[in-house]
Amino acid sequence: MDRIKKHRQNISSASEYIRSHLKQIPKIAVVLGSGLGPLADTLVNTESIPYSDIPGFAQSTAPGHEGRLIAGDLNGCRILAMQGRFHSYEGYDVLDVVLPVRVFHTLGIKDIILTNAAGGINPDFSEGALMMITDHIGFLAPPALWGENLEEFGPRFPDMTYAYSRQLFELARKASKSTGIKLNEGIYAYAPGAQYETPAEIRVFSKLGADAVGMSTVPEAVAARHTGMSVLAISCITNMAAGIIDRELNHIEVLETSKRVADHFSNLIAEIIKNIAEKDVQ
Ligand code: HPA
Repeated sequence: MDRIKKHRQNISSASEYIRSHLKQIPKIAVVLGSGLGPLADTLVNTESIPYSDIPGFAQSTAPGHEGRLIAGDLNGCRILAMQGRFHSYEGYDVLDVVLPVRVFHTLGIKDIILTNAAGGINPDFSEGALMMITDHIGFLAPPALWGENLEEFGPRFPDMTYAYSRQLFELARKASKSTGIKLNEGIYAYAPGAQYETPAEIRVFSKLGADAVGMSTVPEAVAARHTGMSVLAISCITNMAAGIIDRELNHIEVLETSKRVADHFSNLIAEIIKNIAEKDVQ
């Protein structure tokens, strides 16, 4: 079957399934990156759906990615969290990577928070730092919007000047101030993986103005912006990128750092969500 036609069908069947299995559809979605899944464990009054039950959804294979959708209350606000996401390096078509985002839009979700683990390029960062993504460099990202445009989701040439929402920046800054949890800001460069980058590649990214590097988020942010959703993205700097410090990188270290900052990170996200929910009430 035609790739886009199949994608449309997958979006409809996944959306219908989720709608019929949740009592209530939250207004805010949160995608939890590598090792950041523990945030979902802080939710209360939860309802969860394994990806394997959702027709049209791919399966999560990356270590540190659970592979389920959880609706629950965080700080009194109901959210829909993806515990584990899909990456192109797992071999997925980019349409499968962005499918959940389009499903969220179909379900009526207006705000999406994307989180990830990333390597720090900016030498002012250190392991465990949090960085709000103010913009991205996605030349190496698989093109989420190639092929027939899905007009029902958005226009052919969507704007990316405001890929990340200015209003959500303010709410995140406010949350950082009120919790005292430091939130750096910077530019995220997409690297396709699955290998970590070479020091020479990191020097190129640095010259291009990148502050952090990672293997996710950009396709989802592009697809979300296409639909008009407001996007906020936050990286956990789990390690300094290749060559920034002279030692080997490994995924265990990435997971250990994200585990170490998980509480911290959850508290900040919870406060941001509270701010978003208050905005929605106004
Ligand atoms: N590079 C790419 N992706 C990553 C890194 C990194 O150094 N750390 C965590 N995800």
